Amino acid sequence: MILPIVAYGDPVLKKEATPVERDHPGLKELINNMFDTMYNAQGVGLAAPQVGSGLRVFIVDASPFKQEDKRLEGFKKVFINPVIVEETGKEWLFNEGCLSFPKLREDIWRKPSIKIKYYDEDFNLHEEKYDGIAARIIQHEYDHIKGIVFIDHITPFKRRIIKSKLNAISKGLVNADYKMKVPVKKQKTVG
Ligand code: NI
Repeated sequence: MILPIVAYGDPVLKKEATPVERDHPGLKELINNMFDTMYNAQGVGLAAPQVGSGLRVFIVDASPFKQEDKRLEGFKKVFINPVIVEETGKEWLFNEGCLSFPKLREDIWRKPSIKIKYYDEDFNLHEEKYDGIAARIIQHEYDHIKGIVFIDHITPFKRRIIKSKLNAISKGLVNADYKMKVPVKKQKTVG
C-alpha cells in the first residue's frame, strides 16, 4: 500500500526514532508499504519517519544507480535498528535529494566509507562496510532515524537562500509526483 510521504516541517522528521522489537506488530506490513511508497515516488531510500512511523527502520534500493556503480544492481535492503559504527575517509560532495523535500537538491559533504551494524527483516544481525553511493544513501537514511534531514548539513548562508523554497514545501505549495502529507497548520482560535 502506498502511504503519503511526510513533508518537511512535520515534527516527526525531527524526532529520534525508537528501536524496533522483533515481534513488533505490523512490522512486515510497514516494510512492504515503505517499499511500495518508495518505488511509487521513484526514490532510492526511505526512512520510517517519512511515512509517519517512529521506528528505527529504513529501506534502500540503489538499483537506479547501477550505471554509476555496477555493484548497485539489485542493491535492495532493509535496515532495522541500524548503528553506523564508523565513518572514514575524506569528505566528498554528492548532490542529494529527499522525498520529504520535493524538487529540492543540495550538494552535501559526507565521508565516503562506513561500517554499519543492523538487523535485516528476519532479524539476522549484520555488520557490513559500504562506500560511494551505497554509503551515501545509507548515511542519508540513517540521519532520518536520528531526526536529521539533509539540509541540516548545509551552511546557514545556503539555508537562508533556500528558506522560501522550504516554506513552500512545508505549506504543500510544491507539487510532488506522489502523495504527500503536509504538516497541519495551527489554527488561530478567534473569540
Ligand atoms: Ni530523505
